Amino acid sequence: MSHAEDHEGTRRDFLYYATAGAATVTAGAAVWPLVNQMNPSADVQALSSIRVDVSGVEVGTQLTVKWQGKPVFIRRRTQQEIDEGRAVELSDLVDRNAENANIDAMAPATDENRTLDEAGEWLVMLGVCTHLGCVPLGDGAGDFDGWFCPCHGSHYDTAGRIRRGPAPRNLPVPVAAFEDETTILLG
Ligand code: FES
Repeated sequence: MSHAEDHEGTRRDFLYYATAGAATVTAGAAVWPLVNQMNPSADVQALSSIRVDVSGVEVGTQLTVKWQGKPVFIRRRTQQEIDEGRAVELSDLVDRNAENANIDAMAPATDENRTLDEAGEWLVMLGVCTHLGCVPLGDGAGDFDGWFCPCHGSHYDTAGRIRRGPAPRNLPVPVAAFEDETTILLG
C-alpha cells in the first residue's frame, strides 16, 4: 500500500465514524421526548423541586435562588417589615389576592397569608415583576420598603404586594415549605 492510499483509507474511516456519531446523537435527541412523555413522574418531579439551605440567611437579608429558570427571593424579614406588612388594610391593596400557591391563591392578600411561617419572618416569592417580568430590586427598595422595579416604576410592599405603578399583581408565592429548621423545599 502506498503512502497516499494509506492516507485515503484513514480519511474514509474518519468520515465513517463521524457520520455514525452524528446518527447516534440524532437518535438520542428523538428518543428523549418519548421517554419523558412515558415517564412523567419521578425524575421530572425531582427536577422541579429544590432544597435551599437558609441557615446563613440573617434577619433583614435576602437570598435569591434560581428555580425553574426564574429567580426566587427568600427573605428573612425584620420585625419592622412584619409589622408594616401586617398594618396594611386590604382596602389599600391593588391586588387583593394572596397569589400564594400554598393556600388558596384567591385568599385575601393579608401579610399572614403570604408568609411561610406563623411569625411572618420568612417570605418566599418569585422575583419576577408582574408587569413585564423584570427582576425587582429588594432590601427595602421603593416607596413601601419592599421591592422596586425600576423598569417602569412598580413599588411592592414588605409582603411583596403591588402598591403603586403599572404591575397588576402581587409577586407570586410559589409552592414552598420548611422541610426542617434550616431547609426550604421549593416546588
Ligand atoms: S417590568 Fe416591572 S414595572 Fe414594568
